[in-house]
Amino acid sequence: MNRVFSGIQPTGSLHLGNYLGALKRFVEMQDDYGCIYCIVDLHAITMPYDPAELRASTREVTAGFLAAGLDPSRCIVFNQSQCTMHMRLAWMLSCLTPLGWLNRMTQFKEKAGKKRDNASLGLYGYPVLQAADIIGYHATHVPVGEDQKQHLELARDIAGTFNHQFGVEYFPLPEPVITGEATRVMSLRDGTKKMSKSDESDYSRINLTDDRDTIAKKFRKARTDSEPGVTYDAENRPEASNLITIYAALADSTRQQVVDQFASAQFSDFKKQLTELAVEKLGPVGEEMKRLSADPGHVDGVLRDGAERANQIAEPIQRDVEEIMGFLVP
Ligand code: TYM
Repeated sequence: MNRVFSGIQPTGSLHLGNYLGALKRFVEMQDDYGCIYCIVDLHAITMPYDPAELRASTREVTAGFLAAGLDPSRCIVFNQSQCTMHMRLAWMLSCLTPLGWLNRMTQFKEKAGKKRDNASLGLYGYPVLQAADIIGYHATHVPVGEDQKQHLELARDIAGTFNHQFGVEYFPLPEPVITGEATRVMSLRDGTKKMSKSDESDYSRINLTDDRDTIAKKFRKARTDSEPGVTYDAENRPEASNLITIYAALADSTRQQVVDQFASAQFSDFKKQLTELAVEKLGPVGEEMKRLSADPGHVDGVLRDGAERANQIAEPIQRDVEEIMGFLVP
């Protein structure tokens, strides 16, 4: 059986990279597989954080999931901390994961920075928790952006190690689904840097909560180069190429089609059209998020129901794992 699992951290606002690289694709897959989409709050506490902000952000990201088109009657939407399998399985898997594998994780190196000794054990073990998230549901497909590729490879390795060590064919090896035009959306200020929640400049990203005027202003101010035409060349024209990628993903088209469509246009005209398209596609999402944010009771209800359904899938798997590993399950 095919099952999809994916997650997004409730740290800061959802941005266009999360939307095009992950969320929009979650929506596209929701009828093809049994889909489980998670607001990964346990991952969000691996760096210093504020409890009130975590609570607010968990609701806001849930509102973003719903506003983007996820329908809780067709998929499961819940927050990670409300299903205990994640933590229990993460511990068990961490006892099977060699330190050498974790030492290779580039995201840990980036996030821990120079003060590695001050980073938490949780930040270091984060990819093991991510593996538990996925394999604890027997997920077979995991839609993510390109930056998650290494973590997904680790999840496969951990699943394989479990099977090998205990002589079972228990966990399917999950496959990353890194498809579409916008698997790596770049900053609007610097086309060589990934669009991210942590960039200091708010002009580097489009937040899903930005209103129409703000979206338009950010695209108008997006950095470009002095070449007049619309050509895709990620190496020499990173900012222009990023805008072409964004247009293609928003229009459900391809980069090549966009380049062909604007073959005789000036770049400034293309940018105007992109601005219009972005406002048309993203404006309603932000407005729906605002509407849902005014009704936290509804959002909490979706999460509560989702957690119940997630637990129903995870509990028997957790029990199997405990038996396979030799725990007495009386
Ligand atoms: P997170 O919260 O950083 O990002 C959520 C999703 O958005 C994608 N993404 C991007 N895609 C394209 N361009 C960008 N600039 C961009 N920035 C982010 C990410 O690739 C991701 O798919 N560790 C994960 C969350 C996680 C998870 C999981 C994912 C926890 N457990 C299990 C899948 C399965 C993370 O921090 O994503």
